[in-house]
Amino acid sequence: MDLSITVNGMKFPNPFVLGSGPPGTNARVLAKSYDAGWGGAVAKTVSLESAKVVNVVPRYGKLRSRSTGEVIGFENIELISDRPIDVWLDEFRQIKKEYPNNILIASIMEEYEKSRWQELVRMVQDTGVDGFELNFSCPHGMTERKMGSEMGEHPDLTEEVTSWVTEVAKIPVWAKMTPNITNIREPAAAAIAGGAVGISAINTILSVIGVDLDTLRPMPTVEGHCVPGGYSAQAVRPIALRMVSQLALAIPEEVSISGIGGIENSHDALEFMLLGSSTVQICTGVMLQGVKMIDELKEGVEKFLVDKGFSSVQDIVGKSLPYFSTHMDLVQKMKAAKRSKAGEASRDNEWAQKDITEKTAELTSN
Ligand SMILES: Cc1cc2nc3c(=O)[nH]c(=O)nc-3n(C[C@H](O)[C@H](O)[C@H](O)COP(=O)(O)O)c2cc1C
Repeated sequence: MDLSITVNGMKFPNPFVLGSGPPGTNARVLAKSYDAGWGGAVAKTVSLESAKVVNVVPRYGKLRSRSTGEVIGFENIELISDRPIDVWLDEFRQIKKEYPNNILIASIMEEYEKSRWQELVRMVQDTGVDGFELNFSCPHGMTERKMGSEMGEHPDLTEEVTSWVTEVAKIPVWAKMTPNITNIREPAAAAIAGGAVGISAINTILSVIGVDLDTLRPMPTVEGHCVPGGYSAQAVRPIALRMVSQLALAIPEEVSISGIGGIENSHDALEFMLLGSSTVQICTGVMLQGVKMIDELKEGVEKFLVDKGFSSVQDIVGKSLPYFSTHMDLVQKMKAAKRSKAGEASRDNEWAQKDITEKTAELTSN
């Protein structure tokens, strides 16, 4: 079955895209992913001066399930790419030459200076990449230089910087949102006002993965010290799904959404598509499972489309959005369905009649 989807004029062979990060950190890993069957990739974020980017070790931390040990949350304090822009420009050219049918999106970030952003845009688009993703969302490290989420947390800056980019960009521009704000619709609206045609959401959530009870040091610990970092993997998925749905219900239809956050299999990917994502990006999932996870992603989505009688990926984008409502409306619908008795039976003062865990199970939908 054809899983292709055209988004902002870019034809993705399938909606599965490597999220910016280690899975797209150089031409070799990108080539391996395209060979494995990924439709597109957002390369690791690049800037003009890689010498200013110095990473630390260790820079990752895991949250594991208490019962199985499975990784459910992942924190990183990794910066953007530390590879020189000239090397990247050569690699962008080379990848586009070797993989003309796969989509390559360049993720870019710069300091708050129009000439720097526009210089970077001009250089990168000359290589033939298909689109840009503006990284307004890295929540750690780069913020100390007023980059990343320092811009994404301020809608006025988001709009201004996006407009600098769209003034010179001849290819589609997506803006990547930070979840570390109250209302994600505000920076998204600002990016769209600045000319972005796509919104990517979400980047990582600011976090502290834990504290070592032997040393008393918060983690990840570098020479005895720590900074909060970005949280990803399956634990963030419900938050990402909420933000994607809020965006999808708020932004103009012609603006695309690339859904990101905790996607590990086709089931997760489908949830993002049903809530309005035309493409989905995966970063931590690839780091933990490898690029071969694409096989299950493709098979699972294909099976879903066939089983449910849909003829294309586009047909399911946003299909579940009409089912969001208000709490007041849920109460009215429940009454109309003559289930008001059920509501009466679950009033708060009756919790004491049963064990709290039993009562929790009774009120849970899945
Ligand atoms: C180790 C690591 C490095 C990352 N580096 C970048 C980056 O350079 N640029 C960017 O826009 N996002 C970066 N991200 C964020 C991811 O692209 C993604 O938005 C986030 O991790 C949530 O998706 P996931 O749960 O699939 O990882 C990074 C994430 C991780 C885990």
